Amino acid sequence: MSYDTIVIGTGPGGYVCAIRTAQLGQKVAVVEKRKTHGGTCLNVGCIPSKALLHASHRFEEAGHAFAGMGISVAAPKLDLKQMLAFKQEGIDGNTKGVEFLLKKNKIDAFNGTGRILAPGKVEVKAEDGTVQTLETKNIVIATGSDVAQLPGVTIDEKVVVSSTGALELSKVPGKLVVVGAGVIGLELGSVWRRLGAEVTVVEFLDRILPGMDGEVAKNFQRMLAKQGFAFKLGSKVTKVETGADGAKVTVEPAAGGAADVIEADIVLVAIGRVPYTKGLGLDDVGIETDKRGRIVVDAHFQTKVPGIYAIGDVIAGPMLAHKAEDEGVAVAEIIAGKAGHVNYDVIPGVVYTFPEVAAVGKTEEELKEAGIAYSVGKFPFTANGRAKVNQETDGFVKVLADATTDKVLGVHVIGAEAGEMIHEAAVLMEFGGSSEDLARTCHAHPTRSEAVKEAAMAVEKRAIHM
Ligand code: FAD
Ligand code: NAI
Repeated sequence: MSYDTIVIGTGPGGYVCAIRTAQLGQKVAVVEKRKTHGGTCLNVGCIPSKALLHASHRFEEAGHAFAGMGISVAAPKLDLKQMLAFKQEGIDGNTKGVEFLLKKNKIDAFNGTGRILAPGKVEVKAEDGTVQTLETKNIVIATGSDVAQLPGVTIDEKVVVSSTGALELSKVPGKLVVVGAGVIGLELGSVWRRLGAEVTVVEFLDRILPGMDGEVAKNFQRMLAKQGFAFKLGSKVTKVETGADGAKVTVEPAAGGAADVIEADIVLVAIGRVPYTKGLGLDDVGIETDKRGRIVVDAHFQTKVPGIYAIGDVIAGPMLAHKAEDEGVAVAEIIAGKAGHVNYDVIPGVVYTFPEVAAVGKTEEELKEAGIAYSVGKFPFTANGRAKVNQETDGFVKVLADATTDKVLGVHVIGAEAGEMIHEAAVLMEFGGSSEDLARTCHAHPTRSEAVKEAAMAVEKRAIHM
């Protein structure tokens, strides 16, 4: 069988790329080894984690948040089996949606493991061992990423789990130790804490959420601690011993020193993810990878081999679904002879905890390091009418603007619905807007988004409600 483009992997990068390529008139096939489409994100990542975050937030809210509004509810009871079924329904709805879209766009889908035999030749090996070879003009590798392993610690997905196991626990752990205070650790730590677990997070660095703005991370840590999270920062896990009744986790200061042992029912290892290229045959065709195993591509997402491209988690850049999707669209357009492009300066990032943390553009630390003079405008939700009336006043908005030109370089939000609010900043930054532009844009009242406008006004010290 012969195609214009074959995409290997149908995660957010691959399936979006395939659809855009088909929209542009090409004959397209996808190869996916999982039974369902949607990749990590839809099957064991973004979607299931957000389903559990949503359900566990509702559970916690029902437990305490309504009485003050004059609504009394009986103490909520957890039916974990049903909550996991609710999560599965969310996954199925989304993966079936992708299957429908692939069919609608007349994309041939092959179930099996793809291997590149040569430029223009992809072998597909099905689970039953059947092998077929497909011919194509272009190949797009979108094989994503896998869990990073902690040296000396075996993930058995029972007692020592990765994010995948942590989305499937059959009972709420009494004590959960999370290794890594990154996005996964804090999101899934939140889920199980809300459902009743005692959560201790062990982090190698002396801060949580590396890469996020330092002030935001510090405030966020304080909020999580108030919710009951315990943090052991500047610490490393050196050993995990598992037994019939859980695990003993040995923790040492990162710089060395006396070890401490923490008992846990479940240990979640969330220390990052690594590119997944196993069995693709990269070496045989001469595709280069870097020291971290990421496929090296040029500005047009093309590997060292003409006609073979790569996108998403398997190449450099933030490991985010929307980054993969945008690269999928860009490479499809490039292959079709158009001008596909991704603006890496404006990729939002969101941590879907409560409160949420959202950011786009540079942090204060990055601006300092680059020697860029900047102004800061900050506005707290305690001074925002809607946040006050809803009694959700934790957090603030911070706008960072170039001190000379006033161009907005970064926006950081911590607070309820931060993940929705960040996009007006993204659009502004995409158009190279200034804090003045944001400050002069009329915002509906009463909304939490008014805090974004006021933070922009605060850049020139003219916020009204502060
Ligand atoms: P993937 O989604 O990993 O898809 C790759 C696909 O390729 C897989 O289906 C795999 O089976 C298939 N494949 C691999 N090798 C082969 C082969 N040889 N042949 C055939 N098929 C193959 N990102 C966000 O932006 N927001 C979130 O809220 C978010 N939450 C997350 C929560 C968790 C718990 C995790 C683990 C990740 C989360 N992410 C989130 C990250 C997000 O899932 C990834 O950035 C995204 O899935 C990357 O997309 P991709 O298309 O590059 O790869
Ligand atoms: P991460 O890179 O976000 O965080 C890993 C954390 O582990 C870091 O703080 C790091 O310093 C720490 N760490 C590393 N080695 C350690 C060690 N030996 N001991 C203790 N701490 C150690 O990685 P995470 O949370 O696993 O997530 C993986 C990827 O998935 C991320 O790149 C993220 O972008 C993506 N993701 C995105 C989400 C979102 O957008 N909401 C949600 C979940 C995941």
